[in-house]
Amino acid sequence: MLSLANKRILLGVTGGIAAYKSAEIIRRLQDAGATIQVVMTRAATEFITPLTLQALSGNPVHLELLDTEAEAAMGHIQLSRWADAVLIAPASADFIAKLATGQGDDLLSTLCLACRSPLAIAPAMNQGMWRNSATQANLERLRGRGVHIFGPTEGSQACGDIGPGRMSEPEDLAELTADLFETGSLAGKKVVITAGPTREAIDPVRYISNHSSGKMGYALAEAAAEAGAETVLISGPVNLIAPDRVRIIPITSAQEMYQAALKEADGCQLFIASAAVADYRPVQIAEQKIKKDTEQLTIELVKNPDIVSAVAALPKRPFTVGFAAETANLENYARGKLERKNLDLVIANDVSDRTIGFNSDDNEVLVVELKGSETIPKINKSILARQLIAKIAEMISND
Ligand code: C5P
Repeated sequence: MLSLANKRILLGVTGGIAAYKSAEIIRRLQDAGATIQVVMTRAATEFITPLTLQALSGNPVHLELLDTEAEAAMGHIQLSRWADAVLIAPASADFIAKLATGQGDDLLSTLCLACRSPLAIAPAMNQGMWRNSATQANLERLRGRGVHIFGPTEGSQACGDIGPGRMSEPEDLAELTADLFETGSLAGKKVVITAGPTREAIDPVRYISNHSSGKMGYALAEAAAEAGAETVLISGPVNLIAPDRVRIIPITSAQEMYQAALKEADGCQLFIASAAVADYRPVQIAEQKIKKDTEQLTIELVKNPDIVSAVAALPKRPFTVGFAAETANLENYARGKLERKNLDLVIANDVSDRTIGFNSDDNEVLVVELKGSETIPKINKSILARQLIAKIAEMISND
C-alpha cells in the first residue's frame, strides 16, 4: 500500500452499527502511512464517540457545519481542499440517498459536494435495505458520477439477518483506498521531471539561487509513479523527501541539470520542467572566497542553457511540459512560452499571489495548450499534481 504514504484521507462516519469498525479503519490507514481527519454525522455519534476517533486519528473530530471555531480553522471548504481522498465508512442507506440527491445539510454531505478528490463509500446496512430498489438506484447514480463503491460483503448481520450489506473489513477498505491512487494511466511510460531551484556558484561559499521549494515537481513525480510510470526526478537542492518508486538524480547547477535532463529525456515519453532554473550563472567561479575589501563588486553573468527548449528540440521529442511563473498577463506570457519553446503544454501560475505558488502548499494554475486553456482552481499541490498527470496522460494517449 505504498500509495497511502503521506496521503491525507478524510474518513466520514455515518450512523450504523458498523461505525465501531471505523476505529480499526483509522488504524489500518495509518499503518499504511496516511494522515486521517474524521468527520462524523450526528447519527454516527450515537454508535461511537468522537473522543475515540479523535484519540486514534490524533486530530479533532469534525461534527458541525456551522461551527464558528471550525469554520475559522478547518471548515468544510478547507477540509474538502485538504483531502487527497474521502472515504465514507460506514455509509448508511440514508447518507447514500443524501449523496445521490446532492443534499448539503450537514458537514459531511456539504464537503462531499465541495470536494474534487476521489470519493469512496463503504455501504453498511441490513440486507433488505441494501436490496431495496431505491438504494440500488441511488448507488447507480453515484457510480455514474464516478463515486467508488467498496463492498459490501455478505454474511451474518447485527440484526440477525444473513445476506449482503455487511461493511467490508477495515483491512480491505485500506487496500481499496490505496488503489484509488494507482490509476495506471502512465503504465509503461518513462517520465522525467525537473524540480527545485538550481544554485550557481559565485565562489566556494556563495551562490545565486531562488525560492523554489520543489513541492510541485515532487508532487508530480509522486503522481506519475502512482500512475505507473518509470519516474526520474532531476532535483536541485530542496528539503523534501523523495517519493517512493521515484529515481532521484540530485544536481546543484543548471549545467548539471541540463546534462542529466538530456541524458534521461532520450527515449522518455513525457518530460515535465517544473524546476526554477537560474537564468544566469557567473562567468567565472572564484577559486577562493571573495573578500569584502572593495566598495563595489561586479559579477559577470552568462546565460544558462534552456533545458526544456533543448528537450523539445530533440529529434524524437517526448511530450514536453513547461511551467510559467508570472506576476501579470498569465495567459499571454504562457502562450508565448508554449510557442517559443515548442512545448505541448504550459502550466502557468501567478506568483504575485502569496497563497499559491512558490513555497506554499496550494496552487491555482492556468493550463495552456495550443487549442485552448483551462483554469484549475486553488487546491493542494498533491491533488493538483494528480489532476495534471491525468490530463497529460489523456493528451498523450490521444496523440
Ligand atoms: O523562460 P522561463 O524561465 O520563464 O520558462 C520557464 C520554464 O522553462 C519552466 O518550465 C522551466 O523549468 C524551464 N526552464 C528550463 N531551463 C532554463 C530556464 C527555464 O528548463 N534555463
